[in-house]
Amino acid sequence: MIKLESLKKSKLFWYFKKKLRMKSPDKILFEKSNFNRISFIHRALRKFPQNSAKYLEIGVFQNAVFDTIYLSEKNKYGVDPSTGGNLRMTSDEFFSNNKTFFDVIFIDGLHHYEQCQKDCINALKFLKTDGIILLHDLLPQNADEEYVPQMNKTWTGDVWKVAVELSMSKNLDFRIVNIDHGVGILKKKKQKI
Ligand SMILES: C[S@@+](CC[C@H](N)C(=O)[O-])C[C@H]1O[C@@H](n2cnc3c(N)ncnc32)[C@H](O)[C@@H]1O
Repeated sequence: MIKLESLKKSKLFWYFKKKLRMKSPDKILFEKSNFNRISFIHRALRKFPQNSAKYLEIGVFQNAVFDTIYLSEKNKYGVDPSTGGNLRMTSDEFFSNNKTFFDVIFIDGLHHYEQCQKDCINALKFLKTDGIILLHDLLPQNADEEYVPQMNKTWTGDVWKVAVELSMSKNLDFRIVNIDHGVGILKKKKQKI
């Protein structure tokens, strides 16, 4: 991944910096659509065979997403140190012992830049070749929402910095969809032989 210093070369970085410095920034108008993070996750999962697809969610909370995943119990992994899911541990603990590769990974754990960056690097390591990673909360509305540590009920933290890094990575396909606090879609680019 790219060092924060070099993020300053990215237009997206300065967009966020400027927006978060404003006293009353214009709200990002999330697209009026029936889609949210859940519909994108389901759409991603439909690309893989239902009986063998493997799903990993980092940060599960009240199972709002996890319970909607139609896969069999052995193919869905929900990692959270506090609530929800089926694996009671941090993402670092999970990845340090993991040997499974996943088709779809949803990253929505601790909303600190450094942790989200680590989750992303680990997720890429355990993503199958055609797999898809989704990330949540990439579009903070204002400085309070992005402030670390959390002080606002609606909290994206500063994971937008990971989005800037991803947008600058040459070997990854990445875009942010302007819905549901910002949903990132990440895939490995196909290698040209
Ligand atoms: C925003 S909530 C997840 C919401 C859920 N994915 C959804 O869409 O409804 C964030 C969750 O991350 C969990 N969390 C905090 N630190 C974590 C860590 N190091 N590894 C994994 N999960 C973590 C928290 O306990 C919390 O339940």
